[in-house]
Amino acid sequence: MQQKIIITIDGWSSCGKSTLAKQLARELGYLYIDSGAMYRAITLYFLRNHVDWTHHDAVDQALQNIKLNFHSNHKSGQSEMYLNEENVEYVIRDLVVAEKVSEVAAIREVREFAVKQQQEMGRNKGIVMDGRDIGTVVFPNAELKIFMTADNDIRVKRRFQELYEKNPNVTMEEVRANLEMRDYIDSHREVSPLRKADDALELDNTNITMKEQLEIAKKWVQERKNGQ
Ligand code: DC
Repeated sequence: MQQKIIITIDGWSSCGKSTLAKQLARELGYLYIDSGAMYRAITLYFLRNHVDWTHHDAVDQALQNIKLNFHSNHKSGQSEMYLNEENVEYVIRDLVVAEKVSEVAAIREVREFAVKQQQEMGRNKGIVMDGRDIGTVVFPNAELKIFMTADNDIRVKRRFQELYEKNPNVTMEEVRANLEMRDYIDSHREVSPLRKADDALELDNTNITMKEQLEIAKKWVQERKNGQ
């Protein structure tokens, strides 16, 4: 049996990390974990329960009441996010959550809470995890680290299309403003900011198809498994 590895995929918002991560995981028979979903679920809990996240005590208290799990959807086979046993996979994608998630994800206690669970999930390897700090902080020794980028306009268009399907009232300007804000906060925060790990391979998918990007990533996986 071939040895299992850890694959990390980091990068800017909406540049296709989760699409690639899901495809790779399916091809390899690995577990796929969307770490952003965990920060989104925590944000959803904070919003619903009016947690004042500017206060450490309130954050600590709230985190004690949060249980995060991924369960596989029986029909699609995809892993979905559960917050205290409620399926929140769809509601965490709303713009209301997106507007606050970077603020919440910048809180040290929130990151410690999430990172600990993420590291536990990768204990047996055979995992593809996407996010912002996976190759730098969560799995600094991962065998394959990918850093994804894409042109800004393309990213806005992709996220707009995704959100528009669920809510036709959303505008391109709103989506652009949200992406720019998140990129700024995610890359400037004090605790584990978004940055490319020194040993990460960069994948710019502005001008390539999903099929092509999967082929590139699969080639990298093979190289790493061969010890290159
Ligand atoms: O990948 P996403 O857009 O669903 O992530 C939502 C937010 O969560 C993103 O704006 C930054 C934060 N995040 C993070 O800080 N660290 C991660 N590993 C993943 C996401």
